[in-house]
Amino acid sequence: MTTPTPAATGAKALDVEKVRADFPALHQESHGHPLVYLDNAATTQKPKAVIDAVRTFYERDCSNVHRGVHLLSQRATVAYEQARTAIKSHLGAKDSREIVFARSTTEGINLVAASFVRPRLEAGDEVLISNMEHHSNIVPWQLLCEEKGAILKVIPINDDGEIILEEYERLLSERTRIVGIVHVSNALGTINPVREMIELAHGRGVPVLVDGAQALPHLPVDVRELDCDFFVCSAHKAYGPTGIGALYGKREHLLEMVPYQGGGDMILSVSFDGTTYNEPPHRFEAGTPNIEGAIGFAEALRYLDEQGLDAIAGHEGQLLAAATEAVLELPDVRPIGSARHKASVLSFVMDGVHPHDIGTILDSEGIAVRAGHHCAQPVMARFGVSATVRASFGLYNTMQEIEALVAGLKKVREVFA
Ligand SMILES: Cc1ncc(COP(=O)(O)O)c(C=O)c1O
Repeated sequence: MTTPTPAATGAKALDVEKVRADFPALHQESHGHPLVYLDNAATTQKPKAVIDAVRTFYERDCSNVHRGVHLLSQRATVAYEQARTAIKSHLGAKDSREIVFARSTTEGINLVAASFVRPRLEAGDEVLISNMEHHSNIVPWQLLCEEKGAILKVIPINDDGEIILEEYERLLSERTRIVGIVHVSNALGTINPVREMIELAHGRGVPVLVDGAQALPHLPVDVRELDCDFFVCSAHKAYGPTGIGALYGKREHLLEMVPYQGGGDMILSVSFDGTTYNEPPHRFEAGTPNIEGAIGFAEALRYLDEQGLDAIAGHEGQLLAAATEAVLELPDVRPIGSARHKASVLSFVMDGVHPHDIGTILDSEGIAVRAGHHCAQPVMARFGVSATVRASFGLYNTMQEIEALVAGLKKVREVFA
């Protein structure tokens, strides 16, 4: 595990107490204990700045976008489109028109599968994903392959939970039509070498979709530097609202893509003789969008940038290293995923105790972790388990909370001794 510390990168250190003051939900008790929230890979808590941005929309600017001539609609439209520009800047895209608002990472992947890959996929063609994908980056491809008679190929991973790059190169074939790869695994924490994988795919003319759901809150992302064809993410994993996410797509791809859903806003004109579709990104945003979600999303990214992603990565790297070391000292604990490059996820099993029992006992101590398959059943199967306990860290977590987790796990051991 080689997450750089702020000192190593020269980044400013995170002022965690100041950060914590920004998150109202952290200051509550759970079952009579101070809440220790370690379920950030599922969803994150929201800073006041995001809550305020959403509230301001409802209190002042609430109106529909794009179609109104009145003042409120103009303000809502400006705020919505400014949010698109903020997301473009955060992701390092060239053009705001490369950012499509979607409901989530899941919807972004389904959109690319339906509008970009489906028209290009023929029987016998291949879609290439990895063994550590979230179900969101498996099932849309399975559905498409089933429909088209195409083949879903899977890149194997080693016992540390790392992509086997030689196998990846071998699996890239002249029939591969897309590679879908997770940037940071939600089940293992592995940071994949996506830059290198994209280069290898492009060397064979294969486009790449990066599932950035878990990368967005932990790593600086630059889609132009990565040179990915598509990048998908969800706001709620990065301190923003639920129900909103973004799909970045290279402009030349989006221009070629067929609509995903039909409805208002995605058209230029409609008659019963036929419809002319709007330009991207609006072509892919049928119906009234999640306006307040987009505004809150942009505010969350502004908040992340203010703290500095290098500082966040450094702080979370220290938490992960401390938690991993402490948990490894406990008897009968086996971590699942020990990649050299990891972010913010500690997955483990304990001999003789079901993960759900561990989660329940920790909950009684005020500690929120996730126990289950984490919507990544194939990677669970790869490690011969049906479920793990997952502690996942965010920018507001502290060393004291890691100590609380370890004390909670000792209690679990006592109960099941
Ligand atoms: C790696 C990864 N991909 C995709 C998703 C799906 O995200 P959403 O439910 O926001 O669509 C998740 C959610 O946990 C994830 O961790």
